[in-house]
Amino acid sequence: MSEQEFNQNEERGNSGENYRRIVIFDTTLRDGEQSPGASMNLREKLEAAQGLEDLGVDVIEAGFPIISPGDFQSVKEISKILKRTSACGLARCVDKDIDAAGEALKDALHPRIHIFLATSVIHRKYKLRMSQDEIIAKAVEGVRRGRNLCSDIEFSPEDATRTEIDFLCRVVEAVIDAGARTVNIPDTVGYTTPQEMYDRIKALINRVPNIDKAILSVHCHNDLGMAVANSLSAVSAGAGQIECTINGLGERAGNCALEEVVMAMRTRPNIYKADTKIISQKLVPMSRLISRITGLQVPRNKAIVGMNAFAHEAGIHQDGILKERTTYEIMSPESVGFTKTDLVLGKHSGRAALADRAHQLGYVLSPEQLDAVFVEFKKLTDRKKEVYDADIHALIDQQNRGPKDEIKDNKWKFVSYSLTCSSEGSPKLTLALTHRGEVVGVESEEGDGPIHAAFWAIRKASDLPLIMKEFKIEAITGGPDAQGVVIVHLQDERNPEKVFRGQGVSTDIIEAGMIAMVNALNRMS
Ligand code: KIV
Ligand code: ZN
Repeated sequence: MSEQEFNQNEERGNSGENYRRIVIFDTTLRDGEQSPGASMNLREKLEAAQGLEDLGVDVIEAGFPIISPGDFQSVKEISKILKRTSACGLARCVDKDIDAAGEALKDALHPRIHIFLATSVIHRKYKLRMSQDEIIAKAVEGVRRGRNLCSDIEFSPEDATRTEIDFLCRVVEAVIDAGARTVNIPDTVGYTTPQEMYDRIKALINRVPNIDKAILSVHCHNDLGMAVANSLSAVSAGAGQIECTINGLGERAGNCALEEVVMAMRTRPNIYKADTKIISQKLVPMSRLISRITGLQVPRNKAIVGMNAFAHEAGIHQDGILKERTTYEIMSPESVGFTKTDLVLGKHSGRAALADRAHQLGYVLSPEQLDAVFVEFKKLTDRKKEVYDADIHALIDQQNRGPKDEIKDNKWKFVSYSLTCSSEGSPKLTLALTHRGEVVGVESEEGDGPIHAAFWAIRKASDLPLIMKEFKIEAITGGPDAQGVVIVHLQDERNPEKVFRGQGVSTDIIEAGMIAMVNALNRMS
């Protein structure tokens, strides 16, 4: 490939008749939410859904409506905001699930119901106790019921990659005949390999007589670390849709990572001869948004969106990059949304400078939001001389999705604390909170250290049998005055199946810890 072709593919995406357009089906809000600890509230899901539409995904699987009233509500509300992107709801192949999905999607401009039923011998024998013929009859009945509610039906034979190929061909043919427009082949347990996936998709294309009436899709789990490779193999074999999630979130080891599969096709057009509608410059901001919302941090060395994905450490590489970027870079950092410079702002920077930087970082802030962020920015510059992009991301995210809404109707708010502690004896901590606007003061003399003491104080104030399931802390930037981000998971002992996440950011890590705990507490009640 010529240098010119190389640059064109990277910056604009691949187009023209030589490239197939692959449908991107994002399931961050459904399968992604099944990642332990990744549950999101309605406001967070709406924010994520809007971001996904702006990113250019074709279909958003917004949830599993029958699972809970909360999931039903999320699918309903997300359906209302999506303009170009299809809104999809998941359903088992049973009447009440399909009807609930149809009901939740009633207001969607482009609704899709995704119906699944397991087909593999293991699932048939142990889970469903059904014969092959019974499975086919049930699948057909489910698709027909779905078609009465919605014209766009996707069907997934769950555990398809461990299903006998002859039987899988029969199922696929039958559901297409019944009206499925997309047939998805899930590698439910992340067991298959790229070659096997290629062969399976080719077999379906060659053997199912009505295959041209539907789009073939894949949904790959990452248990053996092959979800992206398997999805790409499926594309090479002729699949037209990929199911994936931001940052590869999902059940167990996760799903195919959207950012990786999209950039693989865009960077290697001569191999895949396929592309998507994804606006690649929005990948990094989207990855950050999902990471902040879910509290699941992106590993530094994560492909495409990790902090180190474009960091060149070796002198020989740095030298090469300075002479010609393409010596060691196969994509430019800007093409996936990293900004060129990490401009430093400080206490003399005004509202306009902050607005400009926020805009460059991909945020669209209303004047009111900017005012609120600016107030926090000024407070931060009193505590920290240099404010980096990562600090600005944290400030804006905290403002946009922070505890504010929860506090308005409201419950708990952190006010201040004082602490005496030493390496000898228990710390003495006095904590001031407000509960629905009323000041509450608590003292804690328990705990091995300040965080432990803060936890006991919050437990005392809330009068709830709280358990701290997880406490994570990370510096947002380098330097001794860096802001720390704390993520906590709290549990109410009486309701152990529910774990609530809270996040706090501050230059004072003890304060960040308390804000995180208060935020988790606010999600509980
Ligand atoms: O992994 C899986 O099989 C699924 C289906 C519901 C598509 O998530
Ligand atoms: Zn899955």
